[in-house]
Amino acid sequence: MIENRVIEMMGRRLRLAVIGGGPGSFIGAMHRAAARLDDRYQLVASALSSDPERARLAGIGLGLSEDRAYGHPIELLDGEAGRTDGADVVAIMTPNDSHHLYAGGALDRGFDVICDKPITNTLDEALDLVGKVRSTGLVFCLTHNYTGYPMVRQAKAMVEDGQLGEMRLVQVEYVQGGKAGENDPDPAQGLPWRYDPVRGGPSLVMGDIGTHAHNLARFITGIEVSEIAAEIGAIVPGRLVDDYAAAMLRFDNGARGTFWVTQAAAGVENCLRIRVSGTRGSVEWNQEQPTHLLFSPLDGPAEWRTPNGPGTLPFSARATRVVAGHPEAFHEAFANIYSDAAEAIAARRSGKPPDPLALHFPNAMDGALGLKFVEAAIASSRAGGTWTSAVLEIPQT
Ligand SMILES: NC(=O)c1ccc[n+]([C@@H]2O[C@H](COP(=O)([O-])OP(=O)(O)OC[C@H]3O[C@@H](n4cnc5c(N)ncnc54)[C@H](O)[C@@H]3O)[C@@H](O)[C@H]2O)c1
Repeated sequence: MIENRVIEMMGRRLRLAVIGGGPGSFIGAMHRAAARLDDRYQLVASALSSDPERARLAGIGLGLSEDRAYGHPIELLDGEAGRTDGADVVAIMTPNDSHHLYAGGALDRGFDVICDKPITNTLDEALDLVGKVRSTGLVFCLTHNYTGYPMVRQAKAMVEDGQLGEMRLVQVEYVQGGKAGENDPDPAQGLPWRYDPVRGGPSLVMGDIGTHAHNLARFITGIEVSEIAAEIGAIVPGRLVDDYAAAMLRFDNGARGTFWVTQAAAGVENCLRIRVSGTRGSVEWNQEQPTHLLFSPLDGPAEWRTPNGPGTLPFSARATRVVAGHPEAFHEAFANIYSDAAEAIAARRSGKPPDPLALHFPNAMDGALGLKFVEAAIASSRAGGTWTSAVLEIPQT
């Protein structure tokens, strides 16, 4: 039995091209490592930097041939589309304002796409990508990587299994301290793209981490935010972009929630935390201790769920590569997203059926729902925190 599902379906690995993520980018290295972990992809081309010479040199430094270490993303898309051995998949990890151009250009040329969040900076752009995905049938994977953790998947599977009952309450928080400094950003370094609303989007904190928190809540619970009452702004004096957002949420099944995100909590590292309560029990998960999910049933003592430990459900088990007690974390969760996307892409390209459990990775519609949530939160905050609809009217064409 062949264990590499992509080779099984296609007789070879998927050919991957990457746009962005050049020297110094944290997330670029994560994408490339995630693509390699399960051996589903072969990196064949890159356009790694906005500076053409740096881009070419960095691509060669990754071991790519000179003709495929491109200087510009559009050059890459045209070059790879024109080759018989060209890339199958394009992964995009550039600043937010360029996602629409490069992802749209990739879909137009027939590439499957893996794109980092937020999908775009505006809802209109996001819906344009949703339309292109629908009309082409191509795969679009959005790297909300926290959905790749085994214990997040266990929580989702427990909800779907009915172990928590009907969803009643959701508390989600994403608290970081990276922007707590009064002198951040350093004026001597110039304005980073994130601090420019044209490049970084209408709300820094919402684009950077609010979209992750929103997606995690939807992913685990399976319910949608219907209304939001929000306050968004800057805690650090003098800062012109948002560094915190707090909101009350109403969900489409009547559940209630709270949402709290900030990058200005001094000393906090990467505290993405969620508690979900249903009629029969609650689960709690914290990204900084990712191998432990607390399950508190209504009528019994609280219990831990651990990767591949007792009570593991199939959707969680397939997200773990090691036996119980051997910790996996960020890289492996990111790789789960890549490998699930690979299953869908290889199935589409080979005409073979995918494993249905692989098809839960975030997609373009999840990205559009994230943008609708951001826009509703901003509108609510500007209106003094009034309840504002977050329902996305989905165009049928
Ligand atoms: N999934 C996550 O958890 C996560 C974490 C961090 C960043 N991100 C996302 O990744 C994206 C990049 O963020 P970052 O923190 O790596 O930014 P960054 O500024 O650190 O890196 C961006 C990289 O893209 C390159 N680049 C910029 N414009 C380009 C262009 N036109 N063509 C080719 N390359 C270009 C830059 O040279 C740099 O190497 C953003 O959309 C961000 O939201 C996601």
